[in-house]
Parts: sequence; structure tokens; C-alpha cells
Amino acid sequence: MSYNLLKGKRGIIFGALDENSIAWKTAERVHEEGGTFVLTNAPVAMRMGEINKLAEKTGSQIIPADATSEEDLQNLVSQATEILGGKLDFVLHSIGMSINVRKGKHYTDQNYAWTQKGTDVSAMSFHKTMQTLYKQDAMNEWGSIVALTYMAAQRVFPDYNDMAENKAYLESVARSFGYFFGKDKKVRVNTISQSPTPTTAGSGVKGFDGFIAYAEKMSPLGNATAMDCANYTVSLFSDLTKRVTLQNLYNDGGFSNMGVSDAVMDAFVKGQEE
Ligand SMILES: NC(=O)c1ccc[n+]([C@@H]2O[C@H](COP(=O)([O-])OP(=O)(O)OC[C@H]3O[C@@H](n4cnc5c(N)ncnc54)[C@H](O)[C@@H]3O)[C@@H](O)[C@H]2O)c1
Repeated sequence: MSYNLLKGKRGIIFGALDENSIAWKTAERVHEEGGTFVLTNAPVAMRMGEINKLAEKTGSQIIPADATSEEDLQNLVSQATEILGGKLDFVLHSIGMSINVRKGKHYTDQNYAWTQKGTDVSAMSFHKTMQTLYKQDAMNEWGSIVALTYMAAQRVFPDYNDMAENKAYLESVARSFGYFFGKDKKVRVNTISQSPTPTTAGSGVKGFDGFIAYAEKMSPLGNATAMDCANYTVSLFSDLTKRVTLQNLYNDGGFSNMGVSDAVMDAFVKGQEE
């Protein structure tokens, strides 16, 4: 169903790797709502070629960019405004990666070169993206920038490892840069804190199946899907949320305000009896 919420709006969508990606679902929904955009991802991630299908389906062009490279980002932003025929109204940052997580390095035994690389990719890239947009004056007034995050920025989830710090950094950048973007250019900046979602990045977290099942049982509305996240993002890109900014917004079926649920308590008590 389309409400034409993004008719005439232009943007950039980072991070669509395959059809499970949150960015992939978001690109499909933005397209349905009338938005036009450029797709981008790290050159290495494009070798799979999956993104070409999404580009074809949504009539979009792809511009490769490593989100840690200022040069790549500058090229991306200037090319995108040229291809789309004007300044941008929305940007989705949907990028996350920890080498410590990927290589099974425990939180108490970090390889700091990997930690630094993960911070650069997952968090500083958001600052670099916004600084590039800001310096090139590439955003229209009342534009909207969204990045995706996870509640491990606020609470302890042991296996989320160094991604917890990366998300805390990302959320802080949204507030700090959001201040300047709001004051100087009337642009919104928010993060969406999403439920565990079965994607390539998500499934890399140790014990992910248990993690996702636990969150499902804990949340009164159940876990938010990638499609739920796409819909929420569309609302934040639309003109219906013009003064929502500097926020970390939970899209998690209620999980973040729960202490315990009947379903989790029942499973715990049953486990104790056995
Ligand atoms: N899946 C979950 O459980 C979950 C929950 C909350 C938040 N998130 C966040 O959602 C976002 C999207 O992740 P996803 O779950 O859709 O997984 P995904 O693996 O589909 O997407 C991650 C993307 O980051 C891209 N990327 C990695 N390094 C990059 C670089 N140097 N430059 C540009 N792009 C790069 C990858 O190519 C990939 O497309 C991430 O920020 C993730 O942390 C995910």
C-alpha cells in the first residue's frame, strides 16, 4: 500500500547488501512511496552483485563508496545530487561491522586495531557522511537523516561486544550533528533502535537465535521486522514528522521498557523445574 508520502523527494540509501538487509526493505518502501534515490555500499560488498537487482527494481543508480573514506563520500554526494537533479531530502545510514565480533574475539580480549576499524565503519562513518552533506550544502530544508542502532548502547548485552560502544558513539553523533544541522539547515537527524533482525550483520552476533527468541517473548508486540523498520523510516523521511529530531527512537515491540514478561517467566520457571 502506498500513501505517496515521499513523492518528489530525493535521497541516498546506504547498506543494502541482500534482500534481508534493513536498507533493502527501506529502499523498496521508499520507492513505493514515490521517493527517488541513489544506492550505495562498500565496493567489496558489491561483488556479490545482489544490489543490481534492487537498483533495477527501484530504477536507481548505484555509486560505490567506502563510508570510512571522505573522498568516496564527497564523490558520492556530488554525484547523487547531479543524478537526482537537485539537493537531497533523505539519507539512510544502515552500516555496521565489528571485526572482533566477526572473528569471535571476546570483549575482554580485544584486538584494538579491529576495535578501531569497527568504530570507523560503524560510527565515525555517520559523522563523515553528515559532515560531507553539510559542507556541500547538499540537504534541502526539512530534510531527514536516519541511522540504525541497537539498545546495547544503553544496556548490557554481553555478546554484542564492541558494537555496544559503536552504537553509543553513533547515537551521540546523531544528537551533536543534529544540533548543527537543525540550527543551520533545518534538517532532522534521528536514530532508530531496532529489534534483533535476521540479516547478515545481525546473525553475526554470537547466540543470535536465542537472542531473537528472547526478545520476541519479552516484547508485548513481538520483534519489529525489517519491514517494520522500513515503514518507520518512511515516516521519518516524510513531512509528517518535521520537528522530530535529536531522538533515539525505539522500534522494538515494547522490549526496551519491559522488566519481565509472563512468557519469559514461564519459560524460566519451567527450566528450573526440569
Ligand atoms: N540486524 C539486527 O539485528 C540489527 C538490530 C539493530 C540495528 N541494526 C543495524 O542496522 C544496520 C543495518 O544492518 P542489517 O542488519 O541490515 O545488516 P546488513 O549486513 O544487511 O547491512 C550492513 C551493511 O553495512 C555495509 N558496510 C559494511 N562496511 C561498510 C563500509 N566500510 N562502507 C559502506 N558500507 C559498509 C555492508 O556492506 C552491509 O550492506 C546496521 O547499522 C546494524 O547495526 C541491526
